[in-house]
Amino acid sequence: MEIIKFDTQQELDAYAAELFINTVNEKPNAVLGLATGSTPIGIYDKIVERFNENKVSFKEATTFNLDEYVGIGPENDQSYAYYMNKHLFSHIDIPAPQTHLPNGMADDLQEETTRYDAMLAAQPVDVQLLGLGHNGHIGFNEPDVNLSGGTHAVKLKEETREANARFFSSMDEVPNYAITMGVGSILKANTIVLAVRGADKAEIVKEALTGPITTSVPASLLQTHARVIVLLDREAGRMLD
Ligand code: F6R
Repeated sequence: MEIIKFDTQQELDAYAAELFINTVNEKPNAVLGLATGSTPIGIYDKIVERFNENKVSFKEATTFNLDEYVGIGPENDQSYAYYMNKHLFSHIDIPAPQTHLPNGMADDLQEETTRYDAMLAAQPVDVQLLGLGHNGHIGFNEPDVNLSGGTHAVKLKEETREANARFFSSMDEVPNYAITMGVGSILKANTIVLAVRGADKAEIVKEALTGPITTSVPASLLQTHARVIVLLDREAGRMLD
């Protein structure tokens, strides 16, 4: 595991963006695993900036997002599909059919998770971007006694719904379920980039990266992966030497 600390958010964003850009420049048909949330926004902005400078093209690339809410469609501005279009896809040259998110509006969620896993098996992820939840979740893999390996539907914990409520007009509107890649699917990526910022994540960063490997801190399973690059701002990394 390689851990890199940055003095500023801008430096972290630029470094992470460059990792993805280099991957696509070296392998134009690379498969990128993407995340949503507040952490990747600056990274996507930087990727768009580099795209506008003609430093990269995503025409042949494919993307898979980690997760999506159940019950809200891509036209809903709280859906992750909407987020991805807003922050990245609509600004770069990736053809829409090459961008994938779980379909939270699928009639049969079980079938949808099987479909998503089959696509991931056919096109393994080269580089997967991850953020980190305060409780150690990655994707929507919440702390539990057991973790699912593959893509699955999950009932969101109240603490996660509360953390995400800031994006909705009321708590009632926050979905109760989501579809997420499993920890097993995430660990199949060739390289994983975990980006974390903010003092409020310092404790969970330390626990996930240096504590015991346990399903009660899903991100601790990243310790079992051979190629993880952790990007931290000063605050998030303050409890690590
Ligand atoms: C988003 C996702 C989540 C977030 C995590 C951190 O697709 O899967 O696991 O990465 O909740 O979110 P932020 O970046 O908002 O702190």
